[in-house]
Amino acid sequence: MQSGKGGVNTIPSKAMGGQLFPPCPPPVMNVGPPPMIDWLAQPDDDAEGPVAKPPHTVGESMPEFGARIMETVNAGFIALSIAVGKETGLFSVLAGFEGQPKTSQEIADEAGLKERYVREWLGAMTTGRIVNMDASGKRFFLPPHRAIFLTTPGLGYELTILAAALPMQGKVFNYIIDSFKRDGPRGISYEHFGDFHRFMNACSLIWWDRHLVSTFIPTIPGLKDMLESGISVLDLGCGEGGASLILGEAFPQSSILGVDICSHAVQEASKAAADRQLTNNVRFMELDAHDIPDDWAGRFKYVLAWDSIHDMANPGKILERVRKILAPGGIMSVLEVNARSEIADNMDMPFASTFYTNSMFHCMSVQLHAGGEGLGNMWGRERAEETLRSGGFKVETFPSPFEGSFNCHFLCRLDSE
Ligand SMILES: C[S@@+](CC[C@H](N)C(=O)[O-])C[C@H]1O[C@@H](n2cnc3c(N)ncnc32)[C@H](O)[C@@H]1O
Repeated sequence: MQSGKGGVNTIPSKAMGGQLFPPCPPPVMNVGPPPMIDWLAQPDDDAEGPVAKPPHTVGESMPEFGARIMETVNAGFIALSIAVGKETGLFSVLAGFEGQPKTSQEIADEAGLKERYVREWLGAMTTGRIVNMDASGKRFFLPPHRAIFLTTPGLGYELTILAAALPMQGKVFNYIIDSFKRDGPRGISYEHFGDFHRFMNACSLIWWDRHLVSTFIPTIPGLKDMLESGISVLDLGCGEGGASLILGEAFPQSSILGVDICSHAVQEASKAAADRQLTNNVRFMELDAHDIPDDWAGRFKYVLAWDSIHDMANPGKILERVRKILAPGGIMSVLEVNARSEIADNMDMPFASTFYTNSMFHCMSVQLHAGGEGLGNMWGRERAEETLRSGGFKVETFPSPFEGSFNCHFLCRLDSE
């Protein structure tokens, strides 16, 4: 494995103070206050108000704030190029070189891509300190620890998938801006996103492939035995069906029905069921969950609604339908983002800004478009529990269905039982 001897941003040298990278020069800012108005440069240490400022912003001056914004915007563009690296397979190609420095042409040839584009991407990734360059300045490599991190599920691979939300949300940017306007539309529909369901399924599968059967199901007392002996399961808002397919494969005695309002998601799910020869016990159907038919009464022993209730226009009505279709002793698992309902309580939540932004661009907006109040994926534990309880369920809340998950699990049983 090549160590990148003499490389530009490789081995920490004494001159670098033992650091991996030379310290960045102080940013050249043009946003500082004119010297005569010195109050503008005073530390912003007023911590009044309902929420104390996070420690790193206490005492922050305007130039420091400017530097933070610059870093944040730069990081946003690095993340966009990370999405490119995942989508084009360039990270996998670089990982395959096992740390051997290669020219942009060699990398492009291996990836089957155009050299000019690959070279520009390498520029973004190298200056962004993701890819390294050797002393020639013409050869590039991904150090093994980064290659493993970026390409391994359970490490950083899911973060590269998350980065793909940036270009997806970019597609609807102008529609969202229009929706902000008082005379603009309420929100946008799923059709605007194109590949949302593919993205969502990929995000979910990262977890479910590894955890659904082995870790999550055993946390629900008695469920594994029921699934093994054969029950009917309903996957509400199944998307492209990742969870239904895994359950159907693991528990052939059980019948899994996935329903979703979007026809193209249902088509993809059905195709996957056929490809995996699971059509005996896994079926998908296009259905608005508000219209669950009366003749399904008492039919399902387990209902799952994963990251879907907050997208549905009228959760109260959905819960009314679920109450009817649950068999005696039936249970429902609702998964939602593990957030709190008040912004003030999410100040220290990792990825809170990511979830709020994705909610603004997607969850809140599609629910408003469907006629809902705009719950958004950050509606939080308190709101979700209140909705589930007033929908007639006893609720037990588990802050995480398994280690590393962004979700919390609301395990629901009928109030009447
Ligand atoms: C955030 S996605 C979650 C998909 C899947 N459960 C997962 O975890 O990957 C929400 C899903 O709910 C579906 N959905 C939204 N409103 C619906 C409704 N009224 N009836 C059925 N499905 C709905 C969407 O099409 C989408 O597939």
